[in-house]
Amino acid sequence: MPVLRQLRERFARERPLAGRRVSACLHVTTETANLAVTLKGGGADVALCGSNPLSTQDDVAAHLVKDHGIKVFAIKGYEHIRAALAHRPDVTMDDGADLVGALHMIALNRLDDLARPVRKWVETLAVADRKALVGGVLGSTEETTTGVIRLKAMARDGVLQFPVVAVNDSDTKHLFDNRYGTGQSTLDGILRATNLLIAGSTVVVAGYGWCGRGFAMRARGAGANVLVTEIDPLKALEAQMDGYRVATMAEAARVGDVFVTLTGNVDVIRVEHMRAMKDGAVLANSGHFNVEIALEGLKQVAQGPTRVREFVDEWRLDGKRIFVLADGRLINLAAAEGHPASVMDMSFANQALAAEFVVQQAKSLTKDVHRIPRELDAEIARLKLQAMGVTIDRLTPEQQKYLTSWEQGT
Ligand code: ADE
Repeated sequence: MPVLRQLRERFARERPLAGRRVSACLHVTTETANLAVTLKGGGADVALCGSNPLSTQDDVAAHLVKDHGIKVFAIKGYEHIRAALAHRPDVTMDDGADLVGALHMIALNRLDDLARPVRKWVETLAVADRKALVGGVLGSTEETTTGVIRLKAMARDGVLQFPVVAVNDSDTKHLFDNRYGTGQSTLDGILRATNLLIAGSTVVVAGYGWCGRGFAMRARGAGANVLVTEIDPLKALEAQMDGYRVATMAEAARVGDVFVTLTGNVDVIRVEHMRAMKDGAVLANSGHFNVEIALEGLKQVAQGPTRVREFVDEWRLDGKRIFVLADGRLINLAAAEGHPASVMDMSFANQALAAEFVVQQAKSLTKDVHRIPRELDAEIARLKLQAMGVTIDRLTPEQQKYLTSWEQGT
């Protein structure tokens, strides 16, 4: 992670996070460890909790605690959110808006909407203490599309209590992490879980955002016939012109061998679709939350599950078999190792810069969803190219002049 390494070296010299408590709710992977160590080297007192029960790499969690003195709370369940909040952060760092969501339920006194361990802990706090907890947060950073959608809805409704930097909105994040990271790691997760041959199969990709585009590209590269489902006409048109078949889920259900959801929405594959599927259909999700495949509905009408391999559950429905991978949780982090370091380099360089930005600019930022300045985004791209040994052309003075004038000849 050469870009993050350069930031780590600067952070160690300049200590931009000195004296700040940072609570991060991220997938606990080797790449996240690198970020946590960068933040600590920048002076932060870091607490890290897992953002998904199946994504924690236990050896990484142990390493951070033992060798770096970083507090890690990543055991399955919601206890870890409580622990990250009890750290009383100045800055929170989210992947899916869990910490910000909990802080806002506390601010709005909607304690019933909190997970039990968090609620029980909040109930022990005096009202002034709860206010101080939320009021003490200078700002937050958010990693993923799902979280950003939620945060923008909070800003729209006027309830956002502090500024948030949407790391996902940086070009050096979503154009690479979502597209190439998710594209590759989703296929990797499916292959590790099933050992299926993709060539010649029909892969149904639900959602043609950056993640869906990336995964469709990789599935096609592996020889699949790719079918895309969408609700957005523009994205559907793009998929069609990218050369994929576009259809409704009802149509796709009848022909798909492997179904992958990457939408950020609920109930994308429902029981009515599952009933139409072929015997042996494989269902996986690569969206942030495990809500895209209607598993509750499946449980009510199907027999099972039988665990036939690690991460593969067989369900019997109308005499046919349906295989659900990783309980419908994000397949790339559950069955594989998430995105490779080389792409997380840019995502987490954005995170580190976003944390610094929040600390430096907190007083002047409005309670809204912001992105890091475009110059920083471009600088990350420049450093990444440099690390890859790629040089690019510069504008000549004549070209510069041409681009900024309107009088020169056409
Ligand atoms: N999200 C996707 N891949 C990841 C990784 N390797 N580490 C942390 N978060 C991720």
